[in-house]
Parts: sequence; structure tokens; C-alpha cells
Amino acid sequence: MAIPIKNERAIAQMRDACAIASTVLYKLRDSVGPGITTYDLDQIGRELIAGLGARSACYGYQVDSRRFPAFTCLSVNEEVVHGIGSLKRVLHDGDIIALDLVVEYEGYIGDNAMTVAVGKISDARAKLLRVTEESLRLGIAQATVGNRIGDISHAVQTHVEKHGFGVVRDMVGHGVGTSMHEEPQIPNFGRRGKGELIKPGMTLAIEPMVNVGSWRTRTLADGWTIVTADSKDSAHFEHTVLTTERGPEVLTLPRLDSPLSIHAV
Ligand code: MF3
Ligand code: CO
Repeated sequence: MAIPIKNERAIAQMRDACAIASTVLYKLRDSVGPGITTYDLDQIGRELIAGLGARSACYGYQVDSRRFPAFTCLSVNEEVVHGIGSLKRVLHDGDIIALDLVVEYEGYIGDNAMTVAVGKISDARAKLLRVTEESLRLGIAQATVGNRIGDISHAVQTHVEKHGFGVVRDMVGHGVGTSMHEEPQIPNFGRRGKGELIKPGMTLAIEPMVNVGSWRTRTLADGWTIVTADSKDSAHFEHTVLTTERGPEVLTLPRLDSPLSIHAV
């Protein structure tokens, strides 16, 4: 199967979907703090998405016979990704929480995530967040025409492991467009010069998931929440990136010039 190449019209649609995804993500971040439940955060996410005329691509997302029951993915501390908001999960000062926001707008999907501090966090947790975000930035920098997907993977893995952390292997980044998951897969580990050739017009969701300890994970009994096997902390950052002849363009940044922008919410 070939990697979809987006034409000008599809790229414009991706820009809109991604602007909404990032606007909601930044707004949701503003609601994070000690005392709020992850259920409340999910409801805020639901309202923000609806307020911009979009739809959560997570809600009802089907794997085998199971459907994801929440509007956002909220993953606290040792939870890696795909956490489900719960009234029983109250955020405490010192926690970290990954917010993963995927929206569909007029048939196109924007996907982005960030991990944020709840109140004041330990230096160790701050380092995890910093290194994970840096690894995303270094991965994005490799998303240039003529490079290969392995160049992204290698850049992420090298940075993460230099700091003694582990990159999650059983989940990967992905192409994104009219479906949440398109080709290619974008592992956060791999070899330079390997994998698919990067051409202009690809829209790629690059998303390092980084563990303080082992890269191994397991799934909770809810069938969705992925946690670290050793119960140590994990962080996740993600952007949707357009490849162009002029270099990578991050589509999931809040846009100031658009009615979809953060100031219009
Ligand atoms: N960003 C996540 C991913 O690409 C979103 C998953 S939505 C869920 O896999 F429904 F699976 F939770
Ligand atoms: Co994704």
C-alpha cells in the first residue's frame, strides 16, 4: 500500500482539522490542575471540540469489537496512552498527564498530544517531559523530502536513550488524513536510511512515547489504557506534520489568523 500524498485541497482541509486539534489541546491544558478529575477534563474536551464544529475521532473508535468510550485520551503518570477519563481519577499536585486530542473536521483528521505538569512536579518528571518533547522536535526535523522514515525513528530513539530513558516499541506514529491511521507506520526506534522515502505532501503524526524505565508496556483490564510494565512514569508528545520541499511544517499549532484560532473559542 502506498503512502497517501495530499493535494492542495486536502492540505487545506488538514490545516483546518489540525488547527482545531491544537486549539482544543491548548485550551484543555489550561484546565489541568490539582483537584480536577480526568472525567471532567474529558467533558471539557468534548465541549471544546463540539464548540468548533468538529467531532472526536477517539469517541467510538473501534478495535475488534470494542469502541473507545471517551472523547479524549488522558494518561496519568505510569499510563502511557489511551487512558479513559474517570470520576475516580483526581489529579494531584506533582502528577503528570498526557492529553491526546484527535479530531475530525469535514472528513479530515488532526492528531496531537502533549504531557503537562499538574502543579509543581519533581525534577525527574520535568526532565522526562523535556526530553520527550525534544525528541519530538528532533524527529520532526528529520521529516524532510529525500529522507526516510527511519531517519525520524533514529533521531527520536538516539535522543531518548542518550538520557537513559526507553522508547515504547509496541505503538508507533502514523500517517494521518481521512483516516486516523494511514501508512506509513513511524516507529520511535530504528535505523537511519531505512523505511519509506519521504516525499512532499505527506501528513505524518510523529509521536514519541517515552518511559523513564523499561520500554515494555501492558494493557489494563479496561482493554484500552496502556501502562508501563514497571509502573514507572511515561510521557507522550505528538504533532501532525506536513512534508514540503521547504521542509517539515507542523500543522498542529494554534493558528492566530483563522476563525478556528484559540482567540475565537
Ligand atoms: N493519538 C492516538 C493514536 O494515534 C489516538 C487514539 S484514539 C483511541 O493512536 F480511540 F484509540 F483512543
Ligand atoms: Co496519533
